[in-house]
Amino acid sequence: MALDRFGRRIHYLRISLTDHCNLRCLYCMPEEMTFRPNAELLQDDEILLLTRLFAGLGFDKIRLTGGEPTVRAQIVELVGGITHTPGVHSVSMTTNGVLLARLAGPLAEAGLQRVNISIDTLNPAKFRRLTRWGDMEDVWEGILAAEQAGLTPIKLNAVVVKGYNEEDVVDLARLTLEHPWQVRFIEMMPFAGATEMQITQMVTAAQIQAQVEAAFGALEAANGGKLDGEARLFHIPGAQGDIGFISSVSAPFCATCTRARLTADGVLRMCLLREHEINLLKPLRAGATLDDLRNLILEAVWNKPWGHGLAEGEIALNRAMSEIGG
Ligand code: 5AD
Ligand code: SF4
Repeated sequence: MALDRFGRRIHYLRISLTDHCNLRCLYCMPEEMTFRPNAELLQDDEILLLTRLFAGLGFDKIRLTGGEPTVRAQIVELVGGITHTPGVHSVSMTTNGVLLARLAGPLAEAGLQRVNISIDTLNPAKFRRLTRWGDMEDVWEGILAAEQAGLTPIKLNAVVVKGYNEEDVVDLARLTLEHPWQVRFIEMMPFAGATEMQITQMVTAAQIQAQVEAAFGALEAANGGKLDGEARLFHIPGAQGDIGFISSVSAPFCATCTRARLTADGVLRMCLLREHEINLLKPLRAGATLDDLRNLILEAVWNKPWGHGLAEGEIALNRAMSEIGG
């Protein structure tokens, strides 16, 4: 069991499978973003070895992220290896959905349980503007394919950006009337790569909720008012699905954080929004023993920061969002 010095049991590992992406969302990365050469990224056998190590330390919940995880070569086989690792009980993926129409079925067969799909607006022109070249239809087909493949409950993520999609939250929220989906609105967080926009065009969860309630009336608390992961859940009276608000910036959930993040280049990051990192790939390639690696992980977990420092104006600038995986 991996405990930190504040008594939190850290058992949720988010693995970024690649920093590459087939979109260029404005709030995530600059258009001219360059990606790491594949040799610098964890190879499949390295990912599986580290997964076994983490699972042996009590990490039972895994989320695969990117960049965009589905652009990785051999993704289905890799997911199969991860889902079949003893001790791993839940494997999900955060994806932009672009390739899901083709991959949802094979990924479900490989043991993937759920997907969170990013879709910030249902308006194709705005979608293109936010993603720089994405086609909303591809994502929509991806969502339907994921549902059909049983990658449920479907969760949709929308980052809300002032001047781009503030009004679109109403149409996204409306989806929950007819679909048993969880539509989650996310406060934009600051990283390297798009920092100015991330700060000046951030919309708070309270503002988003007010926008949704102006259209549908007061929302009812769901999940007994408790957080579901990082989202506070509500529903429109009579709706099939839920609406979640993720207020990482205005109301952080650090106290209950159980996460660690492994980046695609093999470093362990114990807080999304802090720069400190512990390199695992370097020692692994230099011949470290499994015990050495276990000790590195346990020490990193023990020293996990209490929380982020956004309220004090501390912003982690050593990586863009796509290099950590959210
Ligand atoms: N702040 C919050 N969420 C972000 N995402 C990407 N960049 C940011 C940001 N700056 C979201 C994506 C996706 C998930 C991986 O993180 O939209 O849903
Ligand atoms: Fe790609 Fe996701 Fe970043 Fe958009 S938010 S550019 S889909 S990694």
